Amino acid sequence: MDKFRIIGGLPLKGRVSISGAKISALPCMAAAVLTPETVTLHNLPYVRDIITQRRLLEDIGATVLTPELRTHKIAAAHIELFEAPYELVKTMRASVLALGPLLARFGKAKVSLPGGCAIGTRPIDLHLAGFEKLGAEVRLEAGNVVARAPKDGRLRGGEVHFGKVTVTGTENLMMAATLAWGRTTLYNAAREPEIADLAELLNKMGARVRGAGSSTIQIEGVAALGGAEHTIIPDRIETGTFIIAGAITRGELEIKDCRPEHSAALIAKLRDAGVELQELNPSTLSVVGNLKLTASDVTTEPHPGFPTDMQAQYMALMTQAGGQSTIIETVFENRFMHTSELQRMGARIHSDGSRATVQGVTKLTGAPVIASDLRASASLVLAGLVAEGETIIDRVYHIDRGYEKIEAKLRAVGANIERIRESVTAPLSQTAEPAAIV
Ligand code: UD1
Repeated sequence: MDKFRIIGGLPLKGRVSISGAKISALPCMAAAVLTPETVTLHNLPYVRDIITQRRLLEDIGATVLTPELRTHKIAAAHIELFEAPYELVKTMRASVLALGPLLARFGKAKVSLPGGCAIGTRPIDLHLAGFEKLGAEVRLEAGNVVARAPKDGRLRGGEVHFGKVTVTGTENLMMAATLAWGRTTLYNAAREPEIADLAELLNKMGARVRGAGSSTIQIEGVAALGGAEHTIIPDRIETGTFIIAGAITRGELEIKDCRPEHSAALIAKLRDAGVELQELNPSTLSVVGNLKLTASDVTTEPHPGFPTDMQAQYMALMTQAGGQSTIIETVFENRFMHTSELQRMGARIHSDGSRATVQGVTKLTGAPVIASDLRASASLVLAGLVAEGETIIDRVYHIDRGYEKIEAKLRAVGANIERIRESVTAPLSQTAEPAAIV
């Protein structure tokens, strides 16, 4: 497994360009299964999860061409397999996004049930209950979810009330409803920008989706969908991570190719804490890390609230802010695994259940640490950038799942970070399966 070596203490200065959002790209790639025609997606980030999703599409019979590194042309004209196997679901939970499109177009789908994962149990019960509302019969067989549409092979429009806001659940149901008979209404739908991005693609394909981005989404089913071309929105979590990188190192960064309006809650919170942020134009932010940062409490919430995917990085920042901050995680259970690693670097954090208190300012010192999930790894990188001495982060495959060349982007703005490649002769005992997360 690769590691990162970081020598901290350098302020970051310069410009960084934000990649496409992996959490938007994954459902958009799955949406290509809804049509036999070609769906062309631009601005895909070059990260491990996109490679995994591509493998899934190819495994089930789709053809994926890559005329350019960040463009995929997906043609699902000949689907032969109607399932996402355990090997893929266990490495990437978003493989469950194959369910909705397969069920909608072919009337059947089988997806391995995602097990427990690093940030909590994360069931898919709400997806399944939603499919049942659209007339599907859903069974559990030997660890797999097997779903079937009614006899004529088509789902029926229906009313789905989500008991809890679920992002991939909303996406799965939205895709399933595009080819159903009649109208579907999704209540208490997730409002993340990625939902609106997916709806935009679906509508380009000929779907009739209204209200995406609000908590009520209406979908009028159509008989068939066609090909389309779409550019994935910028990654708001990568944007936030770089804002914090600028702030925590007391640097000066210009963050290009982003969408500041997608990060409004984060930007407001960081301003509260004393970070100077300016919107230079609709796609560029500048961040100046103030010498004096002030502790500010935060509670994670579904969009437009403060994103759970920024909680770990914010915690790293709070170790460098004067005073005590309380961080409450309401979206996922067990999402404080970075705290013990930050503590090993000298952070004063107490966590209990869904609440963590951080006492700042603490001088962090470099240490060997282990990344436990995607965003937790990002917080360790941020801590390493400001810590005195050398930090070695193990298991960076987690960060490779969702951040495109983070070490190269950080190095380009002055960070002392390098990747230590795993020796090909490493004993087998040192290699491990990546855990299914985010
Ligand atoms: C997505 C994002 C992830 C982000 C999360 C919350 C992708 C690929 N991943 O994950 O980066 O952290 O949104 O913003 O887009 N739940 C249930 N039953 C369900 C579904 C969800 O109880 O059927 C619960 C989950 O356990 C969790 C909460 O609802 O506590 C939110 O989960 P959800 O929004 O579904 O997260 P993901 O879509 O998996």
